[in-house]
Amino acid sequence: MNKQNSQQITVRAPSNIALIKYMGKSDLALNLAASPSLSMTLKDLCTVTELKEIDGPSRIVAELPGGAPSFTTGLSLQVPRLSEKGIHRMLAHVARVQGQAPESFGAFGLKTRQLKGLEIRSANTFPEGTGIASSASSFAAVTLGVAALLAEDLGQFKALYSKNQGFRRSLSQISRQGSGSSCRSFEGPWVAWKDERTWACESKTPELADLVLLVSDAHKEVGSSEAHRRVLESPLWEGRVARVEKRFEELQVQLRQGDLRAAALLSWQEAWEMHSLFHTAREPFTYWAPQSMEILKYFSEVLRTDAHPPIVTMDAGPNLHVLVPVADEAAWTRKITERFPGLRILRDHCGTGAEIVL
Ligand code: DP6
Repeated sequence: MNKQNSQQITVRAPSNIALIKYMGKSDLALNLAASPSLSMTLKDLCTVTELKEIDGPSRIVAELPGGAPSFTTGLSLQVPRLSEKGIHRMLAHVARVQGQAPESFGAFGLKTRQLKGLEIRSANTFPEGTGIASSASSFAAVTLGVAALLAEDLGQFKALYSKNQGFRRSLSQISRQGSGSSCRSFEGPWVAWKDERTWACESKTPELADLVLLVSDAHKEVGSSEAHRRVLESPLWEGRVARVEKRFEELQVQLRQGDLRAAALLSWQEAWEMHSLFHTAREPFTYWAPQSMEILKYFSEVLRTDAHPPIVTMDAGPNLHVLVPVADEAAWTRKITERFPGLRILRDHCGTGAEIVL
């Protein structure tokens, strides 16, 4: 057996963009969603995390990780500003992975080793807190990194992780307890999450690009955990679970059939419904900026008139995600830039989930 003595590892995990949204929780302790969700895994919009074994207690260091990959899309790494609460939450998750991995690994014949503390450095290729799901990528990266260092045999871990979907999904289940949306960042391009399970969805869609229209990179005022709580007190919450379940089934059929047009309308309705929940909560709030509304208006026209409209959605932030076939990416970028000169656009493609870099 190739016992692990490498006490350091670098991993990267992508963000994902949900078309069917996880919004509202049914179990706070297990972090279970009230309804199923479905997302496209991204690639270069990601978190890179370096984890090093140390003698003292685990800590998070606000520095660039070593061994970071370079990005061809012009993206560069930025170290996020974590609040005390954010650091505490991440360290609690590190302890959770350490606590749950032995049992989880055991089912796959993988042994764990004693791990002292960890020093963790993370950076994102996108501004955090702006609706590009940084908690999805950062929790997925930390889950994979801690799990890999816990394995007695790193070679066996890597082989299992690359070949065994069940093993990947067991890590995704641990990750979900840290941050729900992170459980959809372990495979791709299309991933469904329902109750405790995640799976890859069959699809006939062409490879898609995600154009992120960066209306603002100011940090959001209402975090998504708070949003999950407030939406339950909107009058529009009634009937929401049944509507989402129906959309969830419909989108899976549309993906299987490669019906992007139908997926565009369904995703539009779902994104508007989530934001309407925010706007009508008992403590109402909005993520929209004036330019978000201008762009939404433009795309409502596109959706009505274009034979091949893009999939347009928004997460918990002011920015819009525009999903188009890679073959049409340049043409859509041109159109959007002509209509909204000076608007920053981050470009990414669909991907296959979290991976070990070094
Ligand atoms: C709006 O995964 O950030 O991005 O489980 O509390 O960490 P926690 O919530 P989080 O919620 C993300 C919600 C969303 C929609 C989605 O990604 O499905």
